[in-house]
Parts: sequence; structure tokens; C-alpha cells
Amino acid sequence: MDLPPRPTLFDFHGVSMTKYFTDNWDNVQNFKARPDDILIATYPKSGTTWVSYILDLMHFGDKCSDRETSIPIYLRVPFLEICVPSLESGKDLADKLTTTPRLIKTHLPVQFVPKSFWENNCRIIYVARNAKDTAVSYFHFDRMNHVQPEPGDWSNFLQKFMQGKMVFGSWYDHVTGWWEKKETYSKLHYMFYEDLTEDSGREIDRLCTFLGLPLSAAAKEAVRTGVTFDSMKQNTMTNYSTILIMNHNVSPFMRKGKVGDWKNHFTVSQNECFDEDYNKKMKNPTLKIRTEL
Ligand code: A3P
Repeated sequence: MDLPPRPTLFDFHGVSMTKYFTDNWDNVQNFKARPDDILIATYPKSGTTWVSYILDLMHFGDKCSDRETSIPIYLRVPFLEICVPSLESGKDLADKLTTTPRLIKTHLPVQFVPKSFWENNCRIIYVARNAKDTAVSYFHFDRMNHVQPEPGDWSNFLQKFMQGKMVFGSWYDHVTGWWEKKETYSKLHYMFYEDLTEDSGREIDRLCTFLGLPLSAAAKEAVRTGVTFDSMKQNTMTNYSTILIMNHNVSPFMRKGKVGDWKNHFTVSQNECFDEDYNKKMKNPTLKIRTEL
């Protein structure tokens, strides 16, 4: 497969995007969600794959073992808006899913979510991760992923992150927009990467409650042990090693999986400047995201 060219960012209805996520726009906007669909929404690099795999195991882990051993996670949980030459679009993959419920991933900011998800009152799980670790993870991801813009050096990348000049726009607007949606949309479960790292068993319990899934203690434990960082890193169905647009020699997709890795990247002055800017941008006092455990 020829690698697609690296894209450039442009302003799309006020959000920085690339053509790989806007070329299929009308089809994505007209996507026909079903009432039992489950949407996993995140800003990139916030634990999307982790939560996708948790939900996949929760729903299908004990029923279809072939699914777990032969279908990569990005086919089981299609990425709705992706549209890259020579790969099937996420919307087409989602349309073709035959299992119920359909698990669908999106990085869209809340205002871009296709209206059928709201009309059908679908369950939505939003995962947020602290801005500093997200920025670090995004930097390494852009280095290794050919359908992302060139990241440049870390210091420039961090400036662009603070300005919201990232694919899927501003982290600050994304996490806040989805947080505020919770006020009016009750089928939204907002969770945090840091909580999942701290106690994955507790977060799996909360997901079961939200989804109304009566899993046995043994089934929950099987999910918990199956989704550890080491186990997902070794698992070719969850580590993205089968996707050619990513170069894992540059940086592996399953990179570190830690809370606080930002401390290995931010200089003291970058950190001070980031915190000052963060406090100006994050006005909602109820949204608090830990940067260390
Ligand atoms: P790092 O780059 O910090 O390691 P996404 O799936 O949204 O792209 O997020 C990817 C990030 O989640 C990467 O972070 C990846 O290592 C981390 N991740 C994936 N699975 C994980 C797991 N089981 N435990 C902890 N972190 C995980």
C-alpha cells in the first residue's frame, strides 16, 4: 500500500481539521445511528483504544472468542469520521457491523456529532485525559502516524497544542464542550483516563452500571486482566501493529500508558507557561482533571 501524504490543517467551522476527517462529511453527518449503538467519544490520545477494548470485552468477550483473536480493534470499533485513501471509511465499516450493540468511536467535538445519535438517545461514553499527558502522547503519535500532520519539534508542538491547532481542534474546548453536554444529556458517561489508571476495576463497575450490563464478578475480572497496558501492548489485535499508516519503529502506539509522563517532556518554563494559559482557558471549576496520581 502507498502511504497517503501527510495532510495539512485547515479551519473547518471553527475547528482545526484535516481532509482525512472531513472528506466524508455529509455521509458522516447523515449516519443512521440505532438506539442501542454505543458511541465512544474522546479527544485523540485520551485512552480511546483502552475503553474501546474494555467495552468490546464486556459485550463480546465470552461469546465470540474468534472476534478477540482475529479482528483488530479498529475494525470491531470503527472510527466513524475517518476517510483515508485505500482504507475503508469508518462510516462504511460502521454500517456493515452485524453485532449488537455496535461500538463506534469518534473524536468529533460535541457540536459535530451526527444528530441521529442524539435523536436515538444513544449511550455515549466520553473519556478525558489530562492536557499535559495528552499533548505528549499526541506529539509521539503525530511522529509515527502518516495520516497526521508533521508535528515539528516538541516546543513548537506544545505551542500549537495550546493554540488549539491540532487535528480535532482545541483540547480545552473539546473536554469542556462534552462536559457541559452532560447537563442536558443524561445518557452520557464522562470518565477519566487517570481514574481508569488508578482503579480499572472500579471504572469497569461504573461502566456496567451505566450500560445496564449485569456481568458476573468473574467476567469483570477477565475484562480487567485482559485490558492491562502490557497485555494490550502484546496483543496484535489491540496494539495497531497491523495498520500500515503507523510506523511503530518511530514510536509504538502502545507507548507508555502512564499518568505523569509529561514530566519527562515539559521544561520548568514550559510547565509554568502551560499552567498559566490553562487556568485562563479552563473556566469551568467543576471540571478537574488530575495530572498525577
Ligand atoms: P501514551 O502515548 O501516553 O502511552 P488513544 O487510544 O486515544 O489513541 O490513546 C492512546 C494512549 O492510551 C497511549 O498513551 C496509549 O499507550 C494509552 N493506552 C492504551 N491502552 C492503554 C492501557 N491498557 N493502559 C494504559 N494506557 C493505555
